[in-house]
Amino acid sequence: MTGVKEPSVDEKTRRFREMREEAKLGGGKKRIEEQHAKGKLTARERVELLLDQGSFNELDQFVVHQCTEFGMGEKRIPGDGVVTGYGTIDGRLVYVFSQDFTVFGGSLGEVFAKKVCKLMDLALKTGAPVIGLNDSGGARIQEGVASLAGYGDIFFRNVISSGVVPQISAIMGPCAGGAVYSPALTDFIVMVDKTSHMFITGPDVVKTVLGQEVTFEELGGAMIHSQTSGVAHFIAKDEQHCIEIVKKLLSYLPSNYLEDPPAVEPTDDTNRTDETIAKILPDDSDKPYDVKEIMLRVVDNGEFFEIQPLWAQNIVIGFARLNGKTVGIVANQPMHYAGALDINSSMKAGRFVRFCDCFNIPIITFVDVPGFLPGVDQEHGGIIKHGSKLLYAYCDATVPKITVILRKDYGGAYDVMGSKHSGADINYAWPTAEIAVMGPQGAINIIFRKEIAEAKDPKQKHAELVAEYRQKFASPYIAAQKGYIDEVIDPAQTRPKLISALESLATKREQRPTRKHSNLPL
Ligand code: HXC
Repeated sequence: MTGVKEPSVDEKTRRFREMREEAKLGGGKKRIEEQHAKGKLTARERVELLLDQGSFNELDQFVVHQCTEFGMGEKRIPGDGVVTGYGTIDGRLVYVFSQDFTVFGGSLGEVFAKKVCKLMDLALKTGAPVIGLNDSGGARIQEGVASLAGYGDIFFRNVISSGVVPQISAIMGPCAGGAVYSPALTDFIVMVDKTSHMFITGPDVVKTVLGQEVTFEELGGAMIHSQTSGVAHFIAKDEQHCIEIVKKLLSYLPSNYLEDPPAVEPTDDTNRTDETIAKILPDDSDKPYDVKEIMLRVVDNGEFFEIQPLWAQNIVIGFARLNGKTVGIVANQPMHYAGALDINSSMKAGRFVRFCDCFNIPIITFVDVPGFLPGVDQEHGGIIKHGSKLLYAYCDATVPKITVILRKDYGGAYDVMGSKHSGADINYAWPTAEIAVMGPQGAINIIFRKEIAEAKDPKQKHAELVAEYRQKFASPYIAAQKGYIDEVIDPAQTRPKLISALESLATKREQRPTRKHSNLPL
């Protein structure tokens, strides 16, 4: 008999419950208030908002760091600055980690990283998406190289999970230094306007090294990354909106590469025709129009979930449904640069096509492209290298690929934009399609330069030749004669045609030569 009374079962349970409640407070009430005062939710509040009510199962709640440097031995907080676990969204399993800024500024040390890695390993084994809610001061300085190693372990898992399960990053606070590479390796980045930042080196370093004055917002705010760098795929007006975007995005995606995307019960008529859809095209084929008007009239219930809407606007990408099934849409946008392809639009659509191919999402391409954007900036910026990414992505994709040529389809861009030659399965053209090596003006100037110069009235001669060229070549019929176009369709029939083509391709299987992996032009 020691005289020390063993705690009863009730006492042990009570103590456990207390410990759990304490752990839930993270860095404590004061820091939670500070977090709220910045217009930010806490790590746990975000998880609650994201997951189906009551579905969250937290892992590693009592994990603490092992660091003793810089007085860290006295500062141990259960959970160590990241909330990890699994739950459901719309009833589907997902894994989540949510960085807790109230604990050491959400900074990442050794055990923090181990928690995230454990979660990512489980997601990979079970074939479920990983969602990362980022709000962190980066590598935990006190833990030195162990923090860098921790990031490295996460990066490695980001890469081996790529194309196996969808990975989505929400940036809801700072995300700096090498830490930005974990989100960058994931499939989609959502940033919250005004309260999130991403940069490799912050304003202080920029000032020291380059003498340039720049604010956090100007350097790496959500708007800059949505409009200028293209790093972010979505900009959210606040945290609630950010979470809504993540959920909506997931609704289009399968949980892993072995599954098909979830289908919803269709509520739009599969045979719906549209007698006025072609009228969206101006009679003058050099005039712009909004290609989104066309796609909205084709897809189920006019619903289109656009990705990167503010960057490289000369191409439109996003998800929609046809007969309840997810499709990825790529469309040239004549409202910007006449829809010409350039460096940014090639990278934007190229990565999207690859994402769709990873996750069994058929690709529908609406084409209206005058060619590649000419210019010194483009050539010196590497349009050859970057443009080839889109071409490569289309050729490499083995999901069902259906193309509709609406109007222009000229030059190299013809081959790139989901042509038959890039492996598209079904190629449609509207009667308004113009498929040729180049547009009438440019073509006539090259092949009839002499005749025009020698003509009595060069202007008149030029106009006649342009009209003749347009008549002969600026149509879908030469391509149709050669079988490069499977069918010239009545624009009114676009929706039913796409739906029946999709149905016919549902069992598509395409094998490519075996190899270790291909060599994408990065
Ligand atoms: C340890 C950190 C920290 C870090 C913040 N904190 N960042 N602790 N390591 N990296 C702590 C602060 O000391 C503070 O603790 C608390 O978190 C809140 O931070 P504040 O500075 O008070 O908050 P705020 O004013 O909102 O500023 C947030 C911030 C700033 C902009 C993120 O903290 C900051 O600049 N942190 C450093 C960012 C950074 O350079 N990280 C390294 C990036 S390099 P107390 O207890 O005092 O309140 C990197 C390399 C990764 O990450 C490489 C991977 C390969």
